[in-house]
Amino acid sequence: MSRENWTSSIGFILASAGSAIGLGNIWKFPYVAGQNGGGSFVLVYVLCVLLIGLPVMCSEMLIGRHTRRNVINAMGKVEHIANGSPVRFALSVLAAGMAVAFTLMEAWLMVGVALFAVWAFARRGFAAIGWVCTAVALAILSYYAVVGGWIVEYIWRAVTGGLAAHVPGAELSAEASQIAVESGKSFGAYIGDPWRVLIGFVVFMALTGAVILGGIRSGIERVSKILMPALFVLLLIVIVRSVTMPGAWEGVVFLLKPTSAGFTPKVVLMALGQAFFSLSLGMAITVTYGSYLHKDQNILRAAGWVGVLDTLAALLGGLAIFPAVFAVGLKPSSGPGLIFGALPATFAEMWGGAIWATCFFVMLLIAAVTSSASLLECGATVFIERFRRGHKRGSRRTAVLTGFVICTIMGLLTVFSTADWSHLPWLERGVRACMGSLTQGSWFDTLDNFASYWCLPFTALAITLLVGWVWTPRRAAPELLATGEGDTFPRWILLAWGLLVRWVAPIAIILVFLNSTGFLSL
Ligand code: TRP
Repeated sequence: MSRENWTSSIGFILASAGSAIGLGNIWKFPYVAGQNGGGSFVLVYVLCVLLIGLPVMCSEMLIGRHTRRNVINAMGKVEHIANGSPVRFALSVLAAGMAVAFTLMEAWLMVGVALFAVWAFARRGFAAIGWVCTAVALAILSYYAVVGGWIVEYIWRAVTGGLAAHVPGAELSAEASQIAVESGKSFGAYIGDPWRVLIGFVVFMALTGAVILGGIRSGIERVSKILMPALFVLLLIVIVRSVTMPGAWEGVVFLLKPTSAGFTPKVVLMALGQAFFSLSLGMAITVTYGSYLHKDQNILRAAGWVGVLDTLAALLGGLAIFPAVFAVGLKPSSGPGLIFGALPATFAEMWGGAIWATCFFVMLLIAAVTSSASLLECGATVFIERFRRGHKRGSRRTAVLTGFVICTIMGLLTVFSTADWSHLPWLERGVRACMGSLTQGSWFDTLDNFASYWCLPFTALAITLLVGWVWTPRRAAPELLATGEGDTFPRWILLAWGLLVRWVAPIAIILVFLNSTGFLSL
């Protein structure tokens, strides 16, 4: 079976960074940080990336490269290398634990799913986890693409002059605050108008499908190589304006200075979920990308770079947003609309604002498409390699179309319930009955909350168990150290990695889980 490969290790790093860097950094990171107290969240976030995110990322790349399969077959194969029955048992126990947690939350549908998982894990082991990953990736895409659609709308506004502009002679601070308030209102009105949101959503999904259709080399890799650097430059330009607005310094302090009151268990859970989301972990995307990676490329270095670039992008995103938020008097905790209030105000105060705004939103769109493409790619690889006729691989076109259709249909629910449930009262009733206290203020929030803070940590935990305890760091070491580039690693790196995947990461994830389900109060 011939599979494509990345052309070079830079190509792989940039494509992985392209998957990692997206709306998660520029849209989600600032608003989640804002809701969770700023500096303390940021500190915990960075720790989560270093101690949990990076080891998990290395593990995913290893699984992918070692097996060169789609997620489901890859997980199954690694498990097969070692006799994984005790860990299968452990997985079933975890699923049973989840079932209990969901019972407490009266999330009856999820109880059913968890009980089914107990059986599936016992019978099919890690291959079942691969299915969970695929399903969650498509679910995430179904709301990710809605946010992508907002960006499409804002490009349209920037181009057609629909964003507020500076009035010559007006006093900066007063004017910017007013613009921010109006931008916030107009964003609220926009997401409450599903038919308009639908247009952006469909455009975004079509873009995503188109990138994936191009295949990995000419599609994802080429796009990422040019655009990621451009995004960083534009972010820096926005930061310069943002931090020079009067009153901006407070925002910098909010973002970077931890407060002792800020370290609550909820903050840790949020930071962990956000770290997985932002690094594209737990969804086997990194497994999929790793499966296209050449044997002679250096995984540790690649993971290190992706982690650094992604964290940098998030911090720069925060630095671009928060100074402006404080300068114009927005509330940092105002939620998903945060950047859509703050950014228009910043651009209005820049010389040539509409042009900068257009460039910025276009870059953000591209960053988002490289991420959403990775989400769809995960499903597509599964469809191509699992659903074949005889010995023939399924066609890429059919696979992409299948993923596209599933996500678009699911996305319709999100489109009609982004702000609240008012357009879909029957959905609210259904979701409340099925998800109990996991239900949030809208379908959008419910899905995001469940995927980011429950599914991602769970699958990431499974991956650490698979690599740390089934495959074991000792047996995986040759794969980790296989580099054709003549690099050598100090031994402690290997030891540290082993320690992190085997002990630190799984224990941390379990503690956070126990705490968020109320079994343990830290
Ligand atoms: N990491 C991307 C972002 O920050 C989103 C994303 C892409 C993702 N692939 C993923 C999130 C897989 C979770 C899992 O925007």
